Amino acid sequence: MNTLANAAPSQAASSDEAELALQVRIKAGHIIEDQSEMTTRYRKVLEETMLIAADLELSTLALYYKALQTAPTLEDKISVASAMQDELGHAQVMYRLLKGFGYDTEKLVFERDPSEFKTFYLVQHQPQDYVACVVYMLLGDRAGYTTTRDLEESCSYGPYARSLRKVNFEEQFHVAHGEKWTRFFWDMSSETRARVQEAIDHAFPMSVMWFGTPDHMKKRTDQIAYSIRGQSNDELRQRWLNEVVPYCESVGIKVPAHFDKELGQYVLHYEMPILLDEETGKWDYTTVSWEEKFAQWKKGGPTKLSCFQRIQNDVWGSDLW
Ligand SMILES: [Fe+2]
Ligand SMILES: [Fe+2]
Repeated sequence: MNTLANAAPSQAASSDEAELALQVRIKAGHIIEDQSEMTTRYRKVLEETMLIAADLELSTLALYYKALQTAPTLEDKISVASAMQDELGHAQVMYRLLKGFGYDTEKLVFERDPSEFKTFYLVQHQPQDYVACVVYMLLGDRAGYTTTRDLEESCSYGPYARSLRKVNFEEQFHVAHGEKWTRFFWDMSSETRARVQEAIDHAFPMSVMWFGTPDHMKKRTDQIAYSIRGQSNDELRQRWLNEVVPYCESVGIKVPAHFDKELGQYVLHYEMPILLDEETGKWDYTTVSWEEKFAQWKKGGPTKLSCFQRIQNDVWGSDLW
């Protein structure tokens, strides 16, 4: 038997052993501080996680642009602008970490093809006015905050977990801003109340899907095995529902979910997945196949590419106002 043929499986076995040994150390509470401690697989999963998080933060810059333009008062403009500034700061924190992993951040942000950025369906839909923007903060920023809180609490890469303290501190403000002004517009007039409900109806199912497919479908669990994150998709979704649904109920906003006492958890009033009609902006609550849902995600929402095209090409400045 030739020696090369022997070498390949034993190398694979030793790398598998190294991966398992790292998983065991991490499960025992070990925090990784240096790249030299990382295995190939760990590093790959961590980099993928940080890159998606960085892209998501960056996409919000263009996401809130319309709300910034149409915010009714100067105070509202300032609060949207400062949230956008926060998000850019979050993106910067994450791209800077990636720089330490050998990425060229200039190229990542300004020269990467927009189709290569990885974002979620929710942030590929731009809130069309200030009311929709505060509803997005209530639901969408909270979805992001749910993910980044879990990363801060659980991520086994110390520098990343610690960098999220500031991020989460600011996200808390975005969510609180969303809560305060959603309630304000709900109480302001019948027109603004209808607008709040319309924005909730549009954003709620997208926010539910922020956390991805149900746990029984998820094939890759490396993020959990290496404690890059602590909670599963369904656990994070429950955490989000546990905060959003009682808030909405306290205001009087209708949402398609409630707490099921017998099951001891929140349940949706529809079975995932469902499709959004991009023409009307309305959801069809008929359950479809996951293939159909994946096709909708692949196609993406209206600002999937344009938000990055805008960041890469626009002349920013007076046009914003
Ligand atoms: Fe953020
Ligand atoms: Fe935010």
